[in-house]
Amino acid sequence: MADKPTKGLADVVAASTALSDIDGKAGRLFYRGYDIHDLAGRTTFEETAHLLQCGALPTRDQLAAYGAELVNGRSLGALVEANISEIAEKQAPMEALRTLVSLSGAENPDKDANSAEANHRKAAQLTAQQPILVARYHAARTGAEIPDPDPGLSIAANFLLQITGKVPDPRQVEIFDTCLVLHADHTMNASTFAARVCAATLSDMHSAIVAAIGTLKGPLHGGANEQVMRTLQSIAPDQVAGTVRDKLANGEKIMGFGHRVYKTEDPRATHLRRMSEELAQAAGDDTYYRMSKEMEEVVLAEKGLYPNVDFYAATVYHYLGIPTDLFTPVFSVSRMSGWTAHVIEQHADNRLIRPDSEYIGERDQKWKPIDER
Ligand code: ACO
Repeated sequence: MADKPTKGLADVVAASTALSDIDGKAGRLFYRGYDIHDLAGRTTFEETAHLLQCGALPTRDQLAAYGAELVNGRSLGALVEANISEIAEKQAPMEALRTLVSLSGAENPDKDANSAEANHRKAAQLTAQQPILVARYHAARTGAEIPDPDPGLSIAANFLLQITGKVPDPRQVEIFDTCLVLHADHTMNASTFAARVCAATLSDMHSAIVAAIGTLKGPLHGGANEQVMRTLQSIAPDQVAGTVRDKLANGEKIMGFGHRVYKTEDPRATHLRRMSEELAQAAGDDTYYRMSKEMEEVVLAEKGLYPNVDFYAATVYHYLGIPTDLFTPVFSVSRMSGWTAHVIEQHADNRLIRPDSEYIGERDQKWKPIDER
């Protein structure tokens, strides 16, 4: 008979990984042994994706080769092109991304191959394609003209260009690039676990990514960043403390707070708070930043909970001009680098992931014919 389960698999070690590591007590995060504080603001998202997918920070030559692969990976393929308008009309952003990634897999020449070479090609292509999918989805639903991706621009710069329609300010590009670095990987979070479970059946990378996107969508995971912004927008600026206390008293969760692993400040929140403040000041209106600071103080005082990555990411994205319902898709743009790296790692040393369960239903039931039930 199985042991009692740990609800939500808390503290269960479900996989070995060389990709990222968290010290939840000290509030530290590492990608392949590099402290996130050393990477953020000093390493580009492209370098970070290379670190995760290829195993090391790139040399200049390696970065040039990987960058060229990313630029080539930006094209969406005929099936996506033919369907994106209708999907944008009928599906919400995360649902649409789930569909579009699935469609793009259908045309991939490596779709049935799980070799390391095929997986690396698919990882680079999915990483390149995700920001374009988000921008093209947004343009399709709004009817906006969208500039073509500029091969000379980084993923961060190109995304801001395509979403806002304006050549982005270089400091805004740096900040957004740092956001992408901060969200790239995070051990056995729910969406990464979903991707690994799927990959471990020897299913293909696109299927694993579709599972991950569906999992990221939920408000207890990536969907929280959108909910943070909606909460800020629903509260009068001078009513923050009272509203938060009322919500807590009613047993409501405050989105953007708490974490399964961090029991202190999430190191990503440290950077995001700073960037939110800087952008608020540059915008000349720091209302949402000040409200966020007040929420942070109240939630810490009342519940002892710290902001997670989603809390200050919300106002950063808002100040960068990203529409609120694209906040979770933006998370997926970054996390694609980590998800794909996890699929590569899973396929490289695979065993089916199939835990046990504790049976809590009826036993010894007596079967009766349908007319006697
Ligand atoms: N607001 C209020 N109370 C909270 C919050 C919160 N944000 N988070 C946890 N709590 C409380 C719970 O109500 C619970 O209290 P109880 O013991 O009195 O019932 C206790 O803290 C433990 O919470 P759990 O939900 O059991 O903790 P768990 O580790 O399962 O969940 C999670 C972690 C999902 C992140 C949780 O803190 C939460 O729901 N936060 C809000 C959603 C959120 O911000 N999600 C993004 C997480 S980061 C990411 O996925 C990218």
